[in-house]
Amino acid sequence: MGGRTGGSALRLLAISGSARRASTNTALLQAVAEVAPPGIEISVFDGVGRLPVFSPDLEDGPPPPGVQAFMEAIARADGLIVASPEYVHAIPGGLKNAIDWLVSGEHIIGKPVALMHASHRGENMLAALRLVLSTVTERFAPDIFLRLPLMKMTPEAIMEAVGAGAYRDEVLGFLDGFAGYCRATGARPPL
Ligand SMILES: Cc1cc2nc3c(=O)[nH]c(=O)nc-3n(C[C@H](O)[C@H](O)[C@H](O)COP(=O)(O)O)c2cc1C
Repeated sequence: MGGRTGGSALRLLAISGSARRASTNTALLQAVAEVAPPGIEISVFDGVGRLPVFSPDLEDGPPPPGVQAFMEAIARADGLIVASPEYVHAIPGGLKNAIDWLVSGEHIIGKPVALMHASHRGENMLAALRLVLSTVTERFAPDIFLRLPLMKMTPEAIMEAVGAGAYRDEVLGFLDGFAGYCRATGARPPL
């Protein structure tokens, strides 16, 4: 969890598109949460693999419990960071399924969203995810993007590289830019 200083902290939800235990994208988001400066609080959602497969039929009643918790986390957040692998030149099914659950609700509309990416590859997935996210929210920020070449690294090595190593300044620059975007688009007043 990032450095919360009080009730006015900006709350970001960082969603990993990977359900893999040792995921580089999840590890990147966890490391980013650790280095977040005071005033930015980041929670990591690594549960796309636990959501049931979306069907509009399931929207008739109350959402399944895991979906309800996911929607509430989205609703509480001032902005979303998404980091995902590419699978077969596309968005992994679990992440697309998670986004599909949000489409007919109100929480994703107008939510600021930016991408991170833990690989030097994956252009097709990135293009598709940009299209999907800019469809579900008018506040997708295509120019706020951080890509780090972390493929095949362990979560421990990623924590070290982001926390104390080469990538710390890039991560802090990304967070500064995205926090400014969230505040400028009305999520929270400036601190
Ligand atoms: C089923 C599967 C399909 C993949 N397809 C692609 C692909 O089309 N293009 C690519 O660049 N990488 C592909 N990869 C590699 C992953 O995108 C890459 O290992 C990524 O860094 C994994 O992210 P993670 O560590 O967060 O799970 C694939 C991996 C798997 C398991």
